[in-house]
Amino acid sequence: MLDDIKALKEEIATYTVTNQDQLEEFRLEFLSRNGRVQSMFKNLGSVPKEERALVGKEMNEAKKLAQHRFDEAKKVLEESTLEIKAATSDITLTPPLTPVGSLHPLTQTMEEMKNIFYRLGFTIADGPEVEDDFHNFTALNFPPNHPARDEQDTFFVRKSDDPDMMDLVLRTHTSPVQIRMMEKQTPPIRSIMPGRVYRNEAVSPKSYFLFHQVEALYVDTNVSVADLKQTLITFVKLMYGSDVKYRLRPGFFPFTEPSLEMDIWWGTEKDGKWLEILGSGMVDPNVFKASGVDPEKYTGFAWGMGVERIAILKYGIDDIRTFYENDLRFLEQFN
Ligand code: DAH
Repeated sequence: MLDDIKALKEEIATYTVTNQDQLEEFRLEFLSRNGRVQSMFKNLGSVPKEERALVGKEMNEAKKLAQHRFDEAKKVLEESTLEIKAATSDITLTPPLTPVGSLHPLTQTMEEMKNIFYRLGFTIADGPEVEDDFHNFTALNFPPNHPARDEQDTFFVRKSDDPDMMDLVLRTHTSPVQIRMMEKQTPPIRSIMPGRVYRNEAVSPKSYFLFHQVEALYVDTNVSVADLKQTLITFVKLMYGSDVKYRLRPGFFPFTEPSLEMDIWWGTEKDGKWLEILGSGMVDPNVFKASGVDPEKYTGFAWGMGVERIAILKYGIDDIRTFYENDLRFLEQFN
């Protein structure tokens, strides 16, 4: 028995392992459950008692030797493949390009708008997207039965018949943030309020149930329509270049008097159309009263710009839905 073990050890010590296949053969031959080392242990019972301790010890040594040789060979093989890899890689090659993400075109447009107004001295504020009826409509001088309150346009979050419990809506415009600002801050106020707004409209190339606006509010003593016009003209020139073709025309909103709308020419010199980008006006005295500002002392202007419209003109996009589909072929153009 002892001689057999000695022979086995000899064999283990001299077995050649120079590749992965041989390593696996070695493992099967000596280390696996049916391998030769384990088989010897099975015979230990038939060894005379007095010799058993010695034989057992020798067997354990054979086992350890096999494990040791296996580990060593495995390590050597691993190191040599690494060396081969290192020797064949050319470190002067350009690495494969990792795809780089980019900001969404609407985010880029918003950032650009914010930068322009920041330069013009406006601070940036925001307000909640779930609004109450008072801030979204009543304080903005919407009469009780105004069509904009209609369920066709407004997503209701909570509708209540109880007069003590206000309706809650997804804000249909960013104008309620004006009210919130005036409620907590005494003029002068000069802020823009960017954000999402929601309208229950059918989805089409021209409209979507969610979009973005940049609201503005400028309240101080002696703010005039001339200030409003000048600010808007400065903005479109900074956004689109000094040769931008624009027009201002009268409009109507319950919360401003007078009201103006601004259009930008979309197309070539000969062929194109006007695209409306914003509504604006002088803050109606009723709006001041509803938000605790003295209309005898202060005047102000406000506007609500459509961010999608501004981006559409900037990038020449003709379908608003592309902003929300997250198709990489579209997004990758804005890197
Ligand atoms: N809130 C209006 C809308 O969503 C836009 C607007 C018009 C905002 C005139 C204003 C304003 O602040 O003065 O259509």
